[in-house]
Amino acid sequence: MINFDEVLAEAKQRLADIHENSKLVELKAKYLGGSSVVKQAFKDLKDLPKEEKGNFGQRINIFKNTLESLFEEKEKELEEEQIKSKLEKEKCDITLPGNTYDFGAKHPCQIIIDELTDFFIGMGYKVAEGNEVDLDLFNFELVNIPKDHPSRDMQDSFYISDNLLLRSQTSGVQAHVMQEAKGQGPIKIICPGKTYRRDDDDLTHSHQFSQCEGLVISEKASMGNLMKTLDLMAKHIFGEKREVRFRPSFFPFTEPSIEVDVSCFECQGKGCDICKHTGWIEILGAGMVHPEVLRLNGFDPDIYQGFAFGIGIERLAMLKFGIDDIRKLFNSDITFLGQFRKE
Ligand code: DAH
Repeated sequence: MINFDEVLAEAKQRLADIHENSKLVELKAKYLGGSSVVKQAFKDLKDLPKEEKGNFGQRINIFKNTLESLFEEKEKELEEEQIKSKLEKEKCDITLPGNTYDFGAKHPCQIIIDELTDFFIGMGYKVAEGNEVDLDLFNFELVNIPKDHPSRDMQDSFYISDNLLLRSQTSGVQAHVMQEAKGQGPIKIICPGKTYRRDDDDLTHSHQFSQCEGLVISEKASMGNLMKTLDLMAKHIFGEKREVRFRPSFFPFTEPSIEVDVSCFECQGKGCDICKHTGWIEILGAGMVHPEVLRLNGFDPDIYQGFAFGIGIERLAMLKFGIDDIRKLFNSDITFLGQFRKE
């Protein structure tokens, strides 16, 4: 006959040695499963005389319940152990500093382009898009620079074929826009974009740079409008205190032509190295659109007149931010570019 106390003592001991779920399942089957001691005890019960059955039956039930609760306890214990070790393993220190990611910065030239675009859109201009690869016809001929014109010398540059080149100036956009307008004004556009020219690469020159072209055509556009516009633009970029000076100049596509200087931001016009002791710094070329350019592009110069300007973006960026070498704008030095990050 089964000795309940002995079996219970043995079960307790074996349970104490178990630390894995699979072992516990095996042991449980042995004590409480199909061919377990408990099952055997119930079989023995059948063969007992009637008067002993009640007492023995009660003891089996107690034995079975005790075993069941021992296993239940062990199951809980293992579960808790597992949770504990999982927590231990997956512990994270929430006081550690997080990962930091550097944000990029706007390129200084892009800052200038955005400021110019903001300014001119506020004045009612639209932004036109041009092609960086253009026909000789648009880049030169339609802006009054015929094949043998000496002003080509400074710009004759990167040809793809006899008639196709990387544009040397954004002025060709003037011709595209006028042709699209089919002789009907008004036109009021700017076009910021890249240009390419045979230039020595040095502190202030690069074979690739950016310009912002401007073109206004209407029946009344005047030199006065042009001068006021450029004065406001210079103050928008360089601050209210900047003074603006206009000098006569020559461009094949404008007549009269002017060049525009701003008073030196470094010495306030007194004279220093930056302004080469003149007190002034040149920022752009401009003028009244040459009647021949109007005619060549389908506008009647007896009805329409216009003004145009071409701003050097790198030049403005260098002046505004005090950059001493144009090459810094092109060599992707993160330390340099990071200075333009807005916190
Ligand atoms: N295209 C000229 C250059 O690259 C700049 C320029 C001067 C543009 C006068 C203009 C202008 O529209 O009127 O040097």
